[in-house]
Amino acid sequence: VERTLSMIKPDATNRNLTGKINAKFEEAGLRIVAQKRIHLSQAQAGAFYAEHAERPFYGELCEFMCSAPIIVQVLEGEGAILKNREVMGATNPANAADGTIRKDFALSVGENSVHGSDSPEAAAREISFYFSGLELVG
Ligand code: GTP
Ligand code: MG
Repeated sequence: VERTLSMIKPDATNRNLTGKINAKFEEAGLRIVAQKRIHLSQAQAGAFYAEHAERPFYGELCEFMCSAPIIVQVLEGEGAILKNREVMGATNPANAADGTIRKDFALSVGENSVHGSDSPEAAAREISFYFSGLELVG
């Protein structure tokens, strides 16, 4: 069974949306097999998003991600990586389909409520960034 790394971002934790977002994952058949609330440092946010270091929004993205606590979680299910990205919706909420997390909750392309791994390689790297094997309870 596949696993993916999810983050509930500061705009959503600030608005107490953790439960509503988790309900969408569970309704889609994704099981939350690990979850914790953390507050990233600037350096940790920079390291997590290192692949975006050359993009113009990198500084803004890292500032935002350490502006308040986030929820980091591992979702498990058949095709979890793609399924989670369907449940999340398009990066820009203006383009997100009805019923997706970003359509219902995101504020802007930057403050877009959730992150999900985009490939098996990214999922493996991102899960191990936050969790040890002992913390994953399938
Ligand atoms: P993630 O699941 O968060 O990786 O989203 P994504 O794969 O849909 O988007 P992408 O990897 O291209 O960008 C990563 C994150 O950077 C996005 O989720 C946004 O939070 C942020 N981002 C992307 N484009 C912009 C932008 O034009 N402006 C700002 N401020 N942030 C952006
Ligand atoms: Mg991405």
